[in-house]
Formats: sequence, structure tokens, C-alpha cells
Amino acid sequence: MQEQTLETVAIAPSSSGLGNKAALRGKRADPTEPARLRRSLQLSDISDFPQARIPSGYSEFDRVLGGGIVPGSLVLLGGDPGIGKSTLLLKTAMLLADRHPILYVAAEESGQQIKMRWQRLGGKVPEVSSEAVTSGLYLLPETDLEMILAELEALRPRVAVIDSIQALYFSALSSAPGSVAQVRECTSALMRLAKQLEITMLIVGHVTKDGSIAGPKVLEHLVDTVLQFEGDRFASHRLLRAIKNRFGATHELGVFEMVSEGLEEVKNPSALFMGDREDYAPGSATIVACEGTRPLVVELQALVSPTSYPSPRRSVTGLEFNRLTQILAVLEKRVGLPLSKFDAYVSSVGGLNVGEPAADLGVAMAIVASFRDRIVNPELVIIGEVGLGGQVRPVSQIELRLKEAAKLGFTTAIVPKGQDLSGTGVEAIAVSRVVDAIGLCLMAAPSP
Ligand code: TYD
Ligand code: MG
Repeated sequence: MQEQTLETVAIAPSSSGLGNKAALRGKRADPTEPARLRRSLQLSDISDFPQARIPSGYSEFDRVLGGGIVPGSLVLLGGDPGIGKSTLLLKTAMLLADRHPILYVAAEESGQQIKMRWQRLGGKVPEVSSEAVTSGLYLLPETDLEMILAELEALRPRVAVIDSIQALYFSALSSAPGSVAQVRECTSALMRLAKQLEITMLIVGHVTKDGSIAGPKVLEHLVDTVLQFEGDRFASHRLLRAIKNRFGATHELGVFEMVSEGLEEVKNPSALFMGDREDYAPGSATIVACEGTRPLVVELQALVSPTSYPSPRRSVTGLEFNRLTQILAVLEKRVGLPLSKFDAYVSSVGGLNVGEPAADLGVAMAIVASFRDRIVNPELVIIGEVGLGGQVRPVSQIELRLKEAAKLGFTTAIVPKGQDLSGTGVEAIAVSRVVDAIGLCLMAAPSP
């Protein structure tokens, strides 16, 4: 009985020139068994993705999505409250609305609140309104899932923004909005419609205290793309990151800046993370971090001072604590600096998280510079991982990093030995040990 319901069969190349159905008819193991129709296809028989991606109007957003919005996809946007999720998606909706019909479902805020934000973002009422819906921004302040689905079917927008999934409710379920069952049910219903009508859904999801998206983990499995919007409350820059992406690479980074008229793209983000060049203090060093395929020139600052505590204090901002303690231990043991009697503070300018190993050598140089009250040559970028034995180890994407440094006017780089670096526009000085790098990087601090 069960055999008759099984429809998939092993992939076998169809050698005959017969029609599809005949070619797909499998060989029967048992001749008495009735012939079944094969449903599996070879990949060459499947047509390509039907539609090209839609540019959102924000090139930073497109970059994180892997080259634009995929029609019919579900994108979940997470982030702390107040970070700018609604602002990002409303502005995206406004940019898209010039070319497509867009529906903004406001489940958390009133129409007036959205309109206020819209005006602040530079929204203007279009002069001519036509009967046919070919473009324009439509607003639906609603929390009832069925009403939202009905409106989506009636309007057939190209893209719909759902702000937020935790505020929706499906009346057939007794649990409260935001509960696991509600979130799961609402997302699945939206997904079915998205695939059926090819409507892209941009869905806001709240995050819990520990930073994960509230609601069931299944939410992240259901959607095609999970984006994270993050930033320092005290800084104006915002980072958009892909955590999961069925249509592109993850760990791509988009950089925005929150200004009074909304979110602006930052085309040259390195400038955000570099301090004042004129005022290069002892303890500063410049590194090139890589976020996905995006290189970022970042200034690190270290402060080392004699401790007045029984055990010295260590603190990091934008770096990994364990890597700092490891680098301090290497400098103590292999270079001979008595750092266990000194407090050490290291931070990255702008608070960007540069927890990758390629920052190690830069951290080490910043610490040595602060310890000896010298400055690191401001014309240098420093790239390399530091091993426990005091060796400088190769890092990934070194060419990309050096090209970014060249773009920003750096002429020289300290790099790990053994990496091929021709044609990057920067003179690369290779080192194999931390001790060798110190002599090359440090110079006397200019007298005031
Ligand atoms: P919002 O998009 O409401 O955050 P979320 O949806 O993630 O909770 O953004 C809220 C913050 O953004 C708010 O503190 C004010 C600030 N903001 C600006 O600085 N400029 C603007 O143009 C807008 C609309 C908001
Ligand atoms: Mg919001």
C-alpha cells in the first residue's frame, strides 16, 4: 500500500529522446507492480530563477541581501528596540514605492505615527494618483493576520513590510500575540502567500535579552534570510549583517548612519572607524579588519599603565577579551615586557567589533607603543595573527585588506611572511615574529 504513495525515485539519467513522461518512467523492480510516474527531475530540466532581483534603492541593503531583493523571499530583520528597524524598512519601502506597489503593515504603531516618520524621512504625497496600482506606498495599521492576508491578496504588492511579527495574531489560536504558536503560525501563513503570489516579505522580529530573535527558533529556519541590525546606542553608525541567507553569502556587512533625516548609507565606512590622524597618540595602531568580503580600516587604541590592584585590570571594547589576555601573555613571555604589573585597556575607534585574529599584531603594537610611550608610525597598517610562540601567522583575504588600505592613502603595511602581495598598491613589509615588527612600527613620539 505504502509503495503507491511513494513518488520519488532515484535520479537516473534519461538517455532516450522520448517525451518527458516516458523518459521519467522508472524501471520496475517487480513487473506486477503498476507503473508509477516519476516526479523527480534533473537539474537541467528545471528552469532558472524566474525573476531578477529587485534593487531596494539602498545599495548597502542590496549588498547584504546578496545583490538585491529576491522576489517571493522572506527576510527577517532582528535588532534591539530603538536601533532603527522600522526606520530602515520604511525608508526602503519608500525607495521601492517609486517603482512598485508596496504594502507597509504597521502592527505596532498607528497610521499617524508612521506618517510622522515618513515625513521625517522626506516622504511627499505624489501629485497624480492613478487608478491602477503600479507603484506607491500603502499603509495598513492592522494586527489581525487574516485581514492582512486578505489585503495582500487584494493589493498584490511587490514587497510587504510586516512590522512586527510578534504583534500579529491569528484569531483561531487562543494564545497571546508574540507567543511561540502565534509567531510560528503567522510566519508560515505569510510564507505560503509570499511563495504563491511572489510577494517579498520584509519582517521585523524582536530580539530577546540575550540577542536572539524572540519566538521559536523555527522562525529562523522558516525564512530565507535573517538579517541583524546592530549598533552602539551612543554611536550613530548602524551595521546590517546577514546571519543566514539562502540567496547569498552571510557575514556581508552594510553600514548606515542614523542622522536626523533618517538612515543614510555610508559608502566609505573606513572613515568612521579611523581616529583623527593629526592627533595620533602613543598607543594607537591601524589595522584592516574584514567583515565578510568587506575590508574596513580601523584604528585601535591601547592604554597601558601601572596597576594599583592585586591583579591587573584588562578591558576591551570591540575586541575579544581572551585574545587580549593571550596577546599580553605572548608579549610578556616572548618580548619580555612585564605586563602582568600593568593595567591594559584596548578599544577600537567607533566601537566596531574586530574580534578576528588578523587584528592581533595591531593590538600587540598598540600595547607595546603605549607601554614604551612611543607612537606607531601613522603611515602603517598592521595585519597579522599572533601565535603563542610569538610568531606572526598568515591571515585570510590579505590582498583585499591591502587594497582598502591603499584606497585610504596608506603606503606601507606590516604583513605576515609568506603571503603573495603583488599589485596591491601598498609596500608590504613581511615579518615572521612579533619582536621584528616592534622595531619597524614604533617611532619616537613627536615633542609637543
Ligand atoms: P526605530 O526605527 O523606531 O527603531 P526600531 O523599529 O528598531 O525600534 O528608530 C528609533 C530611533 O531612531 C529613535 O530613537 C529615533 C531615531 N531616528 C533618527 O535619529 N532619525 C530619524 O529620522 C528617525 C525616523 C529616527
Ligand atoms: Mg519599530
